Amino acid sequence: MSDKLTRKFLKQLDRKVWLKKVGIIGVGEYLPEKILTNAQLEKMVDTSDEWITTRTGIKERHLAAEGQAASDLAIKAAQQALANAKFKAEDIELIVVATITGDMSFPSTAAIVQNKLGAKKAVCFDISAACAGFIYGISVAQQFIACSTYKNALVIGVEVLSSITDWQDRNTCVLFGDGAGAAVLAEVAKGGIISTYLGCDGSKVDILNLPAGGSRHPATYATVENRQHFLKMQGNELFKIAVNTMTKAAEVVLKQAGLTFADIDLIIPHQANARIIMAVAKKLGIPEERVYLNIERCGNMSSASTVTALCEAVGEGKVKRGDIILLDAFGAGLVWGACIIEW
Ligand code: UT7
Repeated sequence: MSDKLTRKFLKQLDRKVWLKKVGIIGVGEYLPEKILTNAQLEKMVDTSDEWITTRTGIKERHLAAEGQAASDLAIKAAQQALANAKFKAEDIELIVVATITGDMSFPSTAAIVQNKLGAKKAVCFDISAACAGFIYGISVAQQFIACSTYKNALVIGVEVLSSITDWQDRNTCVLFGDGAGAAVLAEVAKGGIISTYLGCDGSKVDILNLPAGGSRHPATYATVENRQHFLKMQGNELFKIAVNTMTKAAEVVLKQAGLTFADIDLIIPHQANARIIMAVAKKLGIPEERVYLNIERCGNMSSASTVTALCEAVGEGKVKRGDIILLDAFGAGLVWGACIIEW
């Protein structure tokens, strides 16, 4: 073997030997107190509880109070996750906030969270990966901890989607909710994140986006008048792509991990539509009782969906030490992510 190849081999060996195992050691969530039911929506747009329930599985969703921004929700979820992990805010070295509805365009919501939490030494940034945001977040944090750059990380998925929802558009306003979930990641002796898989197809930006308010269409009277500061979605087109992409992502991440669907104790998917989730489970051959749903009570909370569902599943005792869980998400970008964790 040449010197160059020997060095390369040793470097790879070194990486394998020194990469740390990373796991989630605490979780937390916060859902705003205000609840909007399907019956209330019937009075706002031309819809019905029957349509919303049968087409989406949603019965109600939580909405942030006036003046409540993403960081306000994020802090509450983060404090719960830190307490659950028995961690002090000042010991956190990295804060990653996954969100598409941060407090402001800049600075990052992570920076605002850092200050409010008193996590003075944390490096902070946001991730914009919509509904796959939390899985992108834990994947990024995992790399930093595995390589010993940071000892731990707080990853938050938070949305105030009500702030970009067009309450006159029945196609979208019945779908979304507000909430936050958080996870503390650190080195673990056993188990932890086994495998992650992320993807993006940027050719379909047009089917789910927020048209104005960025540098392409800065805010003007016309953009406001044309309701361009509200989320636009071609739901029907997304439906099929969501089912196929989430199925594929689950297959890839399992293959990477050397596992089969029989090894999975619980799937915790992104909660966009109960019909999408059940179609994915059916394609994967996973029975309903091994699929976790909170969509009925929360609607679609984009970056916050997967992590709040994880937090609730843990709280309900549906995820126990040693269980193998699969997180699987898909959203605007289009982006997707899947992750297998031994709890
Ligand atoms: O978070 C990740 C990204 N998002 C997704 O993955 C969402 C994917 N898409 C979906 O979940 C579904 O496509 C929706 C729930 C958004 C819509 O369900 P659908 O079964 O695909 O309905 P559709 O869009 O094909 O609409 C069917 C009919 C239409 O009426 P016509 O044209 O057939 O007369 C709609 O106008 O339902 C009508 N409709 C409604 N009716 C009552 C649409 N929204 C409503 C409503 N209430 N809220």
